[in-house]
Amino acid sequence: YRNLRVALLGAGSVGSQVAKLLLEHGDELAARVGASLEIVGIAVRDETATRDVDLPRHLYTTDAESLILGADIVVELMGGVEPARSYVLLALNSGADVITANKALLATHGPELFDAAEQVGAQLYYEAAVAGAIPIIRPLRDSLAGDRVNRILGIVNGTTNFILDRMDVDGDTLEDALATATELGYAEADPTADIGGYDAAQKAAILASLAFHTTVPIESVYREGITSVNRAQVEAARANGSVIKLLAICERIVHPVTGVEGVSARVYPALISRTHPLAAVHGAHNAVFVQAAAAGDLMFYGAGAGGVETASAVLGDLVSAARRHVVGGPGVAESTHAQLPVLDIGQVITRY
Ligand code: NDP
Ligand code: HSE
Repeated sequence: YRNLRVALLGAGSVGSQVAKLLLEHGDELAARVGASLEIVGIAVRDETATRDVDLPRHLYTTDAESLILGADIVVELMGGVEPARSYVLLALNSGADVITANKALLATHGPELFDAAEQVGAQLYYEAAVAGAIPIIRPLRDSLAGDRVNRILGIVNGTTNFILDRMDVDGDTLEDALATATELGYAEADPTADIGGYDAAQKAAILASLAFHTTVPIESVYREGITSVNRAQVEAARANGSVIKLLAICERIVHPVTGVEGVSARVYPALISRTHPLAAVHGAHNAVFVQAAAAGDLMFYGAGAGGVETASAVLGDLVSAARRHVVGGPGVAESTHAQLPVLDIGQVITRY
């Protein structure tokens, strides 16, 4: 096997789970990819800190730059714009492929990073940046690239969905529900990003850019958070057969005055009928409802936040990046390693 050197930047909720899964299942992934994936280090702020996930201590470093320069693939899971932006640029300019879950970075500096990648022939992967574990970036970029997406309605922030759900189902206050969401690792380092709608707006900018093949700057996304939503409003919605959800709405529109065709992206707490599929999205789950001209309505649903769930999307990107190194192509090579046997155990799910 060829050995691919993987540098991790960050060992928080997501980074620690990526490292843990990679250390536990490295052999399986190596067989799937045709190369071993060696974690050469994990950049953190404090290498002496006591951490919830037990990882080999020698991997921790505060020297992110040296780590990046010795890597084939860099996985950025620090969050925030700086120094993440500088580190991602350093990695791309050194020819490494980069994987990031950092929607704040992509929504504010996406074009700069994609240009840097293109100039050196490197790749920037970001499946985990929108809706955690849910595959939505690849479907929009690849599977639906031949169609015409007209509209996206998304619950794309797990923390706010968790809070609104707790207020609706358990009668919690916003403050109590936020404290629980933070404990569970769903919230951003600064949870204002969640409850203020900034995180959802960043994701809306990314989704709209991909879906409509354009660049939607974060400044153009209308944003309202959930800070003004109170229990009385939640209960009034319930009495009306509705529920309040923080929605990201991205759509092709025709300007009502100028007649110009364009794109609109908006995030705000919306009242939706309890019979709508998005009303059934509970807890920190997310869902992205896509309306495309030929495909019709599609819904992508699953865990939108959480360390281990998001790590799944990051590892998927890691496999794609690694396959690209091995086959030199887009990373879709089929596995050639020993196959698992197919077992016949009859009708386990009761036949109706
Ligand atoms: P955390 O805040 O839990 O972890 C951040 C990690 O990065 C910590 O280990 C921290 O080090 C390290 N770090 C931060 N700044 C620096 C720096 N300047 N130099 C070196 N290391 C640094 O973040 P999450 O794991 O929750 O999130 C990571 C990324 O994933 C973010 O972009 C987030 O938006 C995104 N994301 C998160 C999801 C979630 O559910 N949590 C879901 C989807 C995406 P130290 O531990 O020493 O402080
Ligand atoms: N804080 C984010 C959320 C993490 O709650 O959705 C996933 O991007």
